[in-house]
Amino acid sequence: MPTVEYLDGVLVRPSEARVSVFDRGFLYGDSVYEVVRTYGGRPFELAAHLARLRHSADRISLEPKWDASRTAAEIARTLEAARGGDAPDPLAAPWNVGERYVRVVMTRGAGEIGLDPALAVDPVAIVVVQPLHGPPARAYAEGIATAFAGVRRASPAAIDPTAKTGAHLPNVLAVQEARARGAQEAILLDERGAVTEGSSSNVFAVRGGRVATPPLAAGILEGVTRGVVLRLAREAGVATEEAPLRPEDLEVADEVFITSTVREIVPVTRLGAQAVGAGRPGPVTRRLHDAFRRRAGGPVSLQAPT
Ligand code: PDD
Repeated sequence: MPTVEYLDGVLVRPSEARVSVFDRGFLYGDSVYEVVRTYGGRPFELAAHLARLRHSADRISLEPKWDASRTAAEIARTLEAARGGDAPDPLAAPWNVGERYVRVVMTRGAGEIGLDPALAVDPVAIVVVQPLHGPPARAYAEGIATAFAGVRRASPAAIDPTAKTGAHLPNVLAVQEARARGAQEAILLDERGAVTEGSSSNVFAVRGGRVATPPLAAGILEGVTRGVVLRLAREAGVATEEAPLRPEDLEVADEVFITSTVREIVPVTRLGAQAVGAGRPGPVTRRLHDAFRRRAGGPVSLQAPT
């Protein structure tokens, strides 16, 4: 059965998976989470994801129900239970076929209604495993459209951007805007109009062969994929910089791409109504994606750059 939940120690079918209406994750987004994917059925960069889960919990003073080794064990058990039975997806990128999406959620638990975290009595731990639905093969071959969102990234003074929490409404609204404008991802700006990140991805720009991405100080999530891509670029001798970016820096870039666990590296060929560079995936993006594909141990990219 390709989709399974592990709820507080019990493997359940999706139709049986329930959390309390008094759960603070449901009521207030008072939770932390991680998204991990598999390659060859094995979780990728698991240690980095579990370290970030711990970091996110520490940032909101949430005591997670499981430590890292218990979480790794429960992910393995749920992956095992979710083996096989995949429906074929003709549009899928070849390297995503048969792979799994893993979402780990730790809530502060249920309790009396009230914002005071001390009201929480029983923390909840959840692992959801389902078939990975990454971008279609076409997104890698032709690139995607993005849109600058009107809604701004939540201020780091309000919520620590390096914590992956359940408080996601600004990102939800940004995606709503992007969809309404025919885009596959929203790019969020901060109050001063600087580029931060995508609604669920990090953003990169390539100019004159140099790869640039906003620094953590820009108020962004430290993406695991962002880290892998920066390392691969440096290993390949591609110049990289973590520097503030403005929308116009993306607009004049030769190439733009986004990164995330589910998407890997996806070329961005449109910013709103404007084409990026030549309006098709560029050589640096392809080269880094090929290196990432090799790193992930699977087939390399779809086709040679045109
Ligand atoms: N999102 N920025 C934000 C706001 C994110 O939510 C994500 C990931 C990233 C990329 O991080 P990583 O490379 O570690 O996946 C950046 C996951 C995939 C999600 O929420 O579905």
